[in-house]
Amino acid sequence: MAARIISGKEIAASIRAELAEEVAALKEKGKTPGLGVILVGDDPASRSYVTAKERACEEIGIYSDDNRLPADTSEDELIKLVERMNEDPKIDGILVQLPLPKQIDEDRVLLAVSPSKDVDGFHPVSVGKMMLGQETFLPCTPHGVLQMLKRSAVTTEGAEVVIVGRSNIVGKPLANLLIQKNEFGNATVTVCHTRTKDLKRHTLGADIVIAAAGRPEFITADMVREGAVVIDVGVNRVDDPSKKRGYRLTGDVAFDEVAEKASLITPVPGGVGPMTITMLLYNTVESAKRSIG
Ligand code: GUN
Repeated sequence: MAARIISGKEIAASIRAELAEEVAALKEKGKTPGLGVILVGDDPASRSYVTAKERACEEIGIYSDDNRLPADTSEDELIKLVERMNEDPKIDGILVQLPLPKQIDEDRVLLAVSPSKDVDGFHPVSVGKMMLGQETFLPCTPHGVLQMLKRSAVTTEGAEVVIVGRSNIVGKPLANLLIQKNEFGNATVTVCHTRTKDLKRHTLGADIVIAAAGRPEFITADMVREGAVVIDVGVNRVDDPSKKRGYRLTGDVAFDEVAEKASLITPVPGGVGPMTITMLLYNTVESAKRSIG
């Protein structure tokens, strides 16, 4: 079987068009949604994510307050900036790009973000509400994956889902969302990780495989059953002297060989990446709507 491609780029474009209309309607009511963006240091991958987020805001009319801080910024300085944004009525959402330099305690910074502006869904209050199935900002990558499945008519109800990766940003929240009793959930979920024995035994039993391990081309064709849906969350920079920039982007899935067996598959780039940014825009617009009642 040759897989059909789930284009995150196309799905993201249609959600962004819907959001642009909502932003225009909010502006007519005198409210411009605003996102505060903070990048500390100059990690190249983080820089390109943040630039893409700022560009996406501009495209749909969201005001973005961009803050690029030096790598030696102190934890207190960063927290002061977050607290200023908490109080700023022009800002509806706050994004602190992770990872942070090692002198900064990430947990303390995330705790400083007001849950009412936590558009990343990383504050413990947001995480707790998500786990309890209460209304809150959902973390952007997991939410993006659920939207891709839903908009590609993939049913999660009763499906065997195997997630490879247990990060706080992707694996853990995604597992939680997929077991909720709602239209995006009702799945049977297995979370695999670096200590899993015989990973292939798990992935071969999956209707849906979600690769989020951060290892290039880790999921190979022999690990996936015929007809499975394969979602690739990985974005890895692999050295490639044939490219002008010296590297290429590759996912956690060996795309060409897995596409021969899967029924549906997401590419890298153009898969989950654009969806993550789109769900951030979605949360920012939701926050702006809440702020005016
Ligand atoms: N670093 C990698 N992914 C993310 C994300 O979704 N949000 C933030 N803030 N940092 C990240």
